[in-house]
Amino acid sequence: MTELRPETRTVHLPHPQLNGSRPISVPIYQTSGFVFDDPAVFADGMGRPDGAFVYGRMSNPTVRSLEEAVAGLEGGVGAVATGSGMGAINSVLLGLLKPGDHLIAQKPLYGGTAGMINDLIERFQIAVSYVSEADPEALRAAVRPETKLVYLETIANPVTQVADLPGMCAVAREAGLISVVDNTFASPILCRPLEHGADIVVHSTTKYLSGHTDVLGGIAVFASDELYRKVWSFATELGATADPFAAWLTLRGIQTLPLRMERHCFNTRELATRLNDHPAVSAVHWPGLPSHPSYELAAKLLPDFGGVFSFDLAGGRAAGERFMGAVRLALLAPSLGGVETLILHPASTSHRMLTAEELVRNGIGEGTIRVAVGIEHVEDLWADFEQALS
Ligand SMILES: Cc1ncc(COP(=O)(O)O)c(C=O)c1O
Repeated sequence: MTELRPETRTVHLPHPQLNGSRPISVPIYQTSGFVFDDPAVFADGMGRPDGAFVYGRMSNPTVRSLEEAVAGLEGGVGAVATGSGMGAINSVLLGLLKPGDHLIAQKPLYGGTAGMINDLIERFQIAVSYVSEADPEALRAAVRPETKLVYLETIANPVTQVADLPGMCAVAREAGLISVVDNTFASPILCRPLEHGADIVVHSTTKYLSGHTDVLGGIAVFASDELYRKVWSFATELGATADPFAAWLTLRGIQTLPLRMERHCFNTRELATRLNDHPAVSAVHWPGLPSHPSYELAAKLLPDFGGVFSFDLAGGRAAGERFMGAVRLALLAPSLGGVETLILHPASTSHRMLTAEELVRNGIGEGTIRVAVGIEHVEDLWADFEQALS
């Protein structure tokens, strides 16, 4: 070929040759598509999740690395990473349900998922029944001929009820239903729902998996190849799949997940126990405390009890507002699972769409405060809580 002109050289950039070495960390493959030498390999890569990389909406090496990492941690055969936790939840629900199907979901349920399910009922003629998270007999009684899927959460928000995964998943399996578990609050360090009989695990990787409050992401992990391919196909049609930079940040977070979870749980135990003994506090909700209704189940299911708890102040909503205005280190903010301690008031923020009666049924009071405990030094956190309480 003749000497290339600048207009061509600037377009066709040289790719580095790795002469006998390779990067230690997973690189960010920031490309929307891939080049082929062989048209047959190009054609073969289309329409399946595990062929050659073709187009970024279907697969990308950085995203694949995240999918393999989380599938490995959860014990699944494959995973689909998405742009947010809701992207994963919706890819699963919309990818597997059709009009006329019946879905059984637990209550309490994360607000975004509850909103999505209401939308399914109204716009897609999917019927929904709700059961408690730890009542396999109620689940058995709710099954109908058209029931397709059971939806659970390992640990619920904000009063941290723990689902009876072995009991509920066994009933789902007997009835031939697909069981889906949102494992965001536990992370695969505290619980691997596929080991308890679930078919699909979903995560908001925005939370513990990425861990640094700097990225949105989600993932669905599958026990069977059939479900994996079905949901992958739908997620790529929907355009819900993850971006390589977001996947890279999440991979970076995962490398410290076990260490962070250990500290989240340790700090939470200290704060929950000390608040439980504080005269200004009327109740503490954390499944690691014997007073919590899920304590016995949680002790069987989980090696530790997670980094989120909530508490009620004896002075009700006014006292809660004063507390939230007085903390200095804990940040008044949504979300959880990051290194910083975050607090919020569920009744006016994350659960504002619930009626007064639903709030009571979910164990949420006017003065309940949720704490997503970070990895700071616990004595600094306690000093902050103590001064805010006084
Ligand atoms: C338990 C749970 N599931 C799913 C989600 C949704 O995740 P995302 O905000 O990444 O879409 C959240 C977000 O708070 C959550 O707490």
